[in-house]
Amino acid sequence: MNQKTVIITGANSGIGKAAARKFAGEGHTVIMACRNLEKSRPVRDQIATKTGNGRVLLEQVDMSSFESIRDFCSTYQEKHQKLDILIHNAAYFNHGSPYKQSPDGIEITFATNVAGPFLMTMLLRDLLAASDDARILHAGSNIIKHFLNPKKEIDFDHLQKEPENPRNHSVYINYRNSKMALLMLSFRMAKEFAGDGIKTYSLQINGATMSKEALMKVKPHWRIIARIQNLFFRPPEFTANLYYEICISEKFREMSGVHFNHKLDVMQPAKTDAGIITDIKQGAGADVYPAYAMNEEASEKVWNVCNELTQEHSKLII
Ligand SMILES: NC(=O)c1ccc[n+]([C@@H]2O[C@H](COP(=O)([O-])OP(=O)(O)OC[C@H]3O[C@@H](n4cnc5c(N)ncnc54)[C@H](OP(=O)(O)O)[C@@H]3O)[C@@H](O)[C@H]2O)c1
Repeated sequence: MNQKTVIITGANSGIGKAAARKFAGEGHTVIMACRNLEKSRPVRDQIATKTGNGRVLLEQVDMSSFESIRDFCSTYQEKHQKLDILIHNAAYFNHGSPYKQSPDGIEITFATNVAGPFLMTMLLRDLLAASDDARILHAGSNIIKHFLNPKKEIDFDHLQKEPENPRNHSVYINYRNSKMALLMLSFRMAKEFAGDGIKTYSLQINGATMSKEALMKVKPHWRIIARIQNLFFRPPEFTANLYYEICISEKFREMSGVHFNHKLDVMQPAKTDAGIITDIKQGAGADVYPAYAMNEEASEKVWNVCNELTQEHSKLII
């Protein structure tokens, strides 16, 4: 078997944990990139024991902190010659939380879900380029469907400053914006990295049941809603298997800059001004993503903002 080395961020719970188990079970080297080592160590041990794979490694990283990401990447570079698969799975989404900034003064959702993954990818780019089949996967969300409404756009104004009126802060809007920005990055990186043979993919996740640990992270009244949602969602293993297929399958080897749905069909940009029936079908289905994801001005802004925010952190110091 062609054994790969894979980094999975947020691999201690939910989909990330199920993915770590899947890759480990198939004999690959897995680096679980997690922010809380104490909590993650028993998960690592359990995966290593159950799969009999001695190459399940745990490394600390806080995806909201540039310094932490740089430390993680430096450590990785010291220990490994190449990286085959990078899965940006970790994400910040905290029901009911107030506006909060990362240690670098960036709105926490954008820092964790967009700027952090961008920096990690840039720092690991050379090691990815050393693989003969490098693949980066971004965990997307169907929350971006809100952008099917042509009036919606990413709010760049509050990335580094709190809205004056706290009522203008919304966890959902920040999360939705972050997942759209991440998709734009995925498309852009496909072009930027084509010369290096690094491929990028994104998966639109419709929902996965929240684990007991994940449920405990949210406030009690949100927990009730999450428990109800759990009745309708698929287990994390379903999405973890999709991660595996996207990152390993030969049929995706020559693709890049694609956004998959839960059937692993390549999604297409939605038609705009196509009439109300088409709008309803597009909104209800899983075949298209909002045309806004192809908006050149917004995509360029996401790329530039990520570059500017991470600039002074984007060199590997060993
Ligand atoms: N579950 C769904 O219904 C759903 C739907 C659409 C998209 N998604 C996407 O799927 C991915 C996985 O979600 P999940 O449902 O498996 O969630 P989860 O069980 O809550 O797992 C999230 C993981 O991210 C980690 N994480 C959060 N902030 C971090 C940080 N600053 N640094 C490092 N790790 C951090 C968490 O670590 P801690 O344990 O330390 O908090 C945890 O391991 C996410 O990208 C999410 O946006 C999920």
